[in-house]
Amino acid sequence: MSHTTPGRDASLRERAAKVVPGGMYGHLNAAIFTPAYPQFFVRGEGCRQWDADGREYVDLMCSWGPMILGHRHPAVEEAAAAQRAQGDCLNGPGPVMVELAELMVDTIPSADWVMFSKNGTDATTQALMVARAATGRDKVLVAHGAYHGADPWCTPSTAGTTAAERADLVEYPYNDLEGAEAAAGYADGEVAAILATPFKHDSFEDQEPVDPAFARGLRALADRIGAALVLDDVRAGFRLDPRGSWEPLGVRPDLTAWSKAMGNGYAIAAVTGADALRGAAQTLYSTGSFWFSAVPMAAAKATIETLRDIGGVALMERAGARLREGLAAQAAAHGFTVRQTGPVQIPWLSFEGDATLEKGMHWASACLEEGVYLHPWHNWFMSAAHTDADVDRALAGTDAAFAKLRARYGGD
Ligand SMILES: Cc1ncc(COP(=O)(O)O)c(C=O)c1O
Repeated sequence: MSHTTPGRDASLRERAAKVVPGGMYGHLNAAIFTPAYPQFFVRGEGCRQWDADGREYVDLMCSWGPMILGHRHPAVEEAAAAQRAQGDCLNGPGPVMVELAELMVDTIPSADWVMFSKNGTDATTQALMVARAATGRDKVLVAHGAYHGADPWCTPSTAGTTAAERADLVEYPYNDLEGAEAAAGYADGEVAAILATPFKHDSFEDQEPVDPAFARGLRALADRIGAALVLDDVRAGFRLDPRGSWEPLGVRPDLTAWSKAMGNGYAIAAVTGADALRGAAQTLYSTGSFWFSAVPMAAAKATIETLRDIGGVALMERAGARLREGLAAQAAAHGFTVRQTGPVQIPWLSFEGDATLEKGMHWASACLEEGVYLHPWHNWFMSAAHTDADVDRALAGTDAAFAKLRARYGGD
């Protein structure tokens, strides 16, 4: 799109400041980045996005995860449009709820049943409710620093919440089985659930793969103390393995939380669970006005089927590997030591010795100026829409950004 409207983002921010607290809030608030970050976006297509000023970006954030097949993917849009033509928010779910649940139970070996909602936080919260209903216990083991959502029980900011809302959390260090066992011992006999992400993907830090022995150890610990093992696959789900992110390790959770990529941008989340917890799940009062809308369910069914049919994970791995290799060569050529962590399809890059992330911020801002949208302290996301040509276009931008960084710092 060549049409640009300079100043539109600034004027929208000015108007927003009068009618929205702070003009914008939450994780998409551009004010928490550098001024280079646009706040408003007007269009997405494949792996490209356009901001309100008309500038085009190769999108390496995928809307913080939801876009897995690319913006406006035809199969998803057709399924959503066909459902929309029939109705969306009705007096009950559409038949598509059953079709989607059947597809998920067929796809995910740890799943015998599915409950639907809207956001990842709904799913993590609902999973804990099932675990508590099943065990009659209150406590939940959570990894220190892990993100599980934005409700009072798990939000990283305590503003507007009470200590009582987090009183049942007991922290353990990720990838440290002894630490997890000690946390379980501390909450002896009271643990309803052990909550874990499939790998360590905390903001501001290099990502860390899960130690398979740790994952197996958590499974054994949960069994030993009679707690539910809950995998928070909200961020990584469908990108690493459509069967569930710990399936390749042979570790099956009792409950799994899903959202983000599940509907390729449509608002949907789910908890899947094992038969043993079906009865407890049935006892919850857990619902919402929009939770059973049919359009996002049709979109999710099309997304999961398309990912399967096109080999989506392999496509994302290919794009991510190409990006990682290109970035490594560029960083070396420009005299920077960088660390690239996480699976290639959920990547992040940090600069050696950049504890304050100053270099990372400058580099990310320079990438934006060069038409590449990525994040200075949160992992990025690849989609199945990133072709070799798109990755090469992104790499042209990142190379120019490294050159700008070199002009400023002269290398490491
Ligand atoms: C691992 C994990 N769990 C839960 C959530 C919460 O999801 P949502 O923002 O859709 O409520 C997120 C969101 O980033 C996440 O990354």
